Order: sequence, then structure tokens, then C-alpha cells
Amino acid sequence: MRVIPTESALEFVGRATWEALSGNPVSTTVFDNVHDVAHVKIAQQAKLVIIAPATANLLAKAAHGVADDLLTSTLLMARAPVVFAPAMHTEMWEHPATQQNVATLRERGALVVDPANGRLTGADSGPGRLPEAAALAQVCEVVLARGSVAADLVGVRVLVTAGGTREPLDPVRYLGNRSSGRQGWALAAAAVARGASVEIIAANVDLPDPAGCTVTRVSTADALLSAVLDRAHGVDVVVMAAAVADFRASNTAPTKIKKSDDGGVPHIELARTVDVLATLGSLPPPRPLLVGFAAETVPAGPELVALATSKLRKKNADLIVANSVGVDKGFESPINEATVVSTDGVEAEVPSASKAAVAVAVWDVVLPRLPRAGA
Ligand code: CTP
Repeated sequence: MRVIPTESALEFVGRATWEALSGNPVSTTVFDNVHDVAHVKIAQQAKLVIIAPATANLLAKAAHGVADDLLTSTLLMARAPVVFAPAMHTEMWEHPATQQNVATLRERGALVVDPANGRLTGADSGPGRLPEAAALAQVCEVVLARGSVAADLVGVRVLVTAGGTREPLDPVRYLGNRSSGRQGWALAAAAVARGASVEIIAANVDLPDPAGCTVTRVSTADALLSAVLDRAHGVDVVVMAAAVADFRASNTAPTKIKKSDDGGVPHIELARTVDVLATLGSLPPPRPLLVGFAAETVPAGPELVALATSKLRKKNADLIVANSVGVDKGFESPINEATVVSTDGVEAEVPSASKAAVAVAVWDVVLPRLPRAGA
């Protein structure tokens, strides 16, 4: 990894820190070690260039092809995918000059991740905050998995549900599941990396917001249902990656359920929750394209495909991403595997891979099915 700070960046973090962390020499100018021709060498070796934070000044220089230091010269040289993560005060971000520069960079094929909305320097908050490093890393992982930033989902509005719902039994206990939200996060990051506008409904996900998405956090199946129904009409595709509880307590105890002295156990009556995917599947047309998931405890193969196909038909979904879950795969793991099924049969098979790779494969299957694909 090579770090190329600007002179201004060194006001915040010193050269020694960058050199120690990257294990490589760090310079701001093309006139250090001229025989190395650093901007050419670094650019030619790069598989990905990420500029984070990208200031308004840097975006302006990049948009106009200015090459007056090592970073901007390397940028002009680079043919690898380029990701910009702008961070600045809201007024600077919204300024027509900055917006025009961002549009120019996007037109030229760079991925410019929208900044997060949150605390800025000083007392201000608003759009302009740098997304969390882990969230940017996730976008980069997608770009590396695809080897490009081809923005084939520009203009596509995506709603992703992620995580696992919790159904309260009493004020301190709930019925829950082991879904971490990582696959939903990866699907959202992959859609952002391909230019989509992405909203997430997250059920109990303990991860920082993915870059470039708006996130609404909910807890129960009921809350997830209303959040999804509120938004479903305004989107092109809904990806139901959340593990939604099938049962909840018929009556949530208003106070903590106590042990009885006679050694007896409480009897908790359960009621069915509403099936969100099936509800969306029963909407009259035009409804969004529906991608469901099927987490099953059978291995990948014909039985998994049969279970997925039956779920697809029952819920009237367009695609089902089936995966085999167990103690060490699927839930809470960075690794997943998936078989994507439509009414026509198996559309894609992703053997054990990163959740980013699974996400990329899912979007590849979704893309030609979107009404605006190829428009
Ligand atoms: N799902 C949903 N609402 C529910 C339960 C599930 O929208 N109340 C969605 C999930 O988000 C997923 C798909 O339905 O996209 C399949 O979920 P899964 O738990 O695998 O299947 P179930 O329908 O719950 O069937 P079972 O648990 O019996 O396998």
C-alpha cells in the first residue's frame, strides 16, 4: 500500500505515521527520488486509488486535471479504478462548484461516494462527514472484487433490509436470531459502488452505517414491515436480506418474567408475524423487483434449490438468494456462499466467498431484470 498525502494532509497526520503504517516511503512531491519517477510507478502498480478524505480543493484539482504535487500527478497517471470520499463542511459540499466537479469526476468514471450526514468540525452537523473507514473499505472491497467502478446501477433506487429482528418477551428479553447484518451491508455497499441510491432498513445491526446510504434503524418485525411499506413504492428493487422473526410473543409481559419457586417454566404463547416479503409480493403491479433470501440448514445442492424455489413461489418474489447456514458459515461470518434462483432455475452460484463477492454476484443477476436496465 502506498500513501500519498498532500502538504495540507501532513498538517493533520505526520509523514512518520504514514510511513510506519504503510511500510513504504511517503512524499508529497514528484521531486523526491526523481530517478524512481514515483507518480508513474505508483500509478502503474495501483489496483485501486482511494482519496479519503477528498477535500473540495482536491476534487476541483482532479476535475480539472491539475497535477501540481505527487498525489494529483499520480491521479492523472492512474488507470486503476478511482474512489473519492469527499469530506467538508455542508456549504462547501453543496456549493455548485463542488457539485459540478463531482459530476465531472463521475462522468469520467470515478466513484464519488456521497459523504455521511453527521457531526462536522466545530458545532455543525450535516452532509459532509467522512464515512467510517470500515464502510469505505467495504466499498473498496466491492470495487476490487469487480476490478472496476462501472456505474451500471446509476438511477436505480434500492431498498435493502439487513440484520435480525428482535421480538420482546418482557422489558429485558427478546426472541432474536444470529443475523449480523453483514450480508445486507455488503449488498448495500455493492449497490453504492455501482452508482445506485440506497436506503437501508436495519434491524439491530451493530455496524457503522455503510458509506453513501441512508439508514433507518428498527427492532421488531412489525417496525420493519411498516418501514418497508412506507418506502416500497418509491424504489425499483427491494432486497430482503434481513432475518425477520416468524413468531413474536402474543402478549409482551409489562414487567420482567420471574422464575416461580416451584421450578416451573413460563409458558409463552407465540403469534405469527406478518411476512414482509410475501406482503410485497402480493402488491399490485407495478411493484418493485423483489429479492428474498433463504437461509437453510441444508448444504448447497438440489435440496437447497428446491427449498429456495418453493419460497420464491410462495412469496411471489423475483429472485431468492439461498444460502446454507450453520455454526461456522452464513451468520456472523465474513464468508458466505449463495445460489441465486429465479422461476427459470439457478441463475448464479457463488461458492464460499466474501460477502462482497456474493453481493456483486447478486447485483449481476438483478441488473438485467431492472426495468431501466439498458435504458
Ligand atoms: N421474511 C419476511 N418476513 C418474515 C419472514 C421472512 O420478509 N416474517 C423474508 C426474509 O427476509 C427472507 C425470506 O423471507 O428474504 C425468507 O426468509 P426465511 O427465514 O429463510 O424463510 P421463512 O419464510 O421464515 O421460512 P422458514 O423459516 O420456515 O424456512
